[in-house]
Amino acid sequence: RKKVTIGTLRSMHKRGEPITMITAHDFPSAHVADAAGMDMILVGDSLAMVALGMEDTSEVLVEEMLLHCRSVARATKAAFTVGDLPMGSYEIAPAQAVETAIRFIKEGRVQSIKLEGGKEMAPTIERITSAGIPVLGHVGLNPQRQNALGGFRVQGKTFAGAKKVLEDALAVQEAGCFAVVLEAVPAEVAAIVTEKLSIPTIGIGAGNGCSGQVLVQVDMTGNFPPGRFLPKFVKKYGDVWSESLKAIESYRDEVKSRQYPAPEHTYPIPQQELEAFAA
Ligand code: KIV
Ligand code: NA
Repeated sequence: RKKVTIGTLRSMHKRGEPITMITAHDFPSAHVADAAGMDMILVGDSLAMVALGMEDTSEVLVEEMLLHCRSVARATKAAFTVGDLPMGSYEIAPAQAVETAIRFIKEGRVQSIKLEGGKEMAPTIERITSAGIPVLGHVGLNPQRQNALGGFRVQGKTFAGAKKVLEDALAVQEAGCFAVVLEAVPAEVAAIVTEKLSIPTIGIGAGNGCSGQVLVQVDMTGNFPPGRFLPKFVKKYGDVWSESLKAIESYRDEVKSRQYPAPEHTYPIPQQELEAFAA
């Protein structure tokens, strides 16, 4: 498979081919995403919850994101990689954001960064892109602002809300984003925003009218224990947790019953060596 670049994404968008993106948080999850032909792999700060067991994304540190970015980058041969700037690492000033973004490229080894926010982040996005770092925008629901939003709420459900989503998307496009994530926005609103933009939109909970889609890998592969809450937009394409559970339970049973390891799992020793040793 050929390496996906900004140019590849641009031509996919131009010919109307949907762009596929998924999250990964370590070497194996990036390996499988790349093998499955994903166009883009996002090291999302959602790893705070799905890989580190934190309550929300505000807890994850730049250093922790960088460790995960590096492991994803090592496994990714073709997909275009994006690292998510965590809460607190870019909001203070454009200079802070550029510094963090540069660390993601140099230390995280990803090819681009994502940050949350609309109009108010435009000067920051301009500074990062002018340093030669591609920026993926993220408007609509911004999970890093959940405390201010009063939870994980659908955005753009009113005329004023929809207008804000559009204005934010246009602002981050104008500031130089190569694409923008639209999160938790009514499908019709996302479709209209997509029509009005010249850069691709990557939807999550934003319907089928976007230029591409993104999902959190552990959600869509079903790699979590039963009972976990899933947002409405997630489609569970697999049952990885049950597969792992079955495998580990079988291993447990076979060790307890001494069925494992069987002779084929052991190393031979020549008979005369054994006799000498056992004597
Ligand atoms: O952190 C994340 O996984 C994300 C995507 C869901 C867009 O930001
Ligand atoms: Na994120």
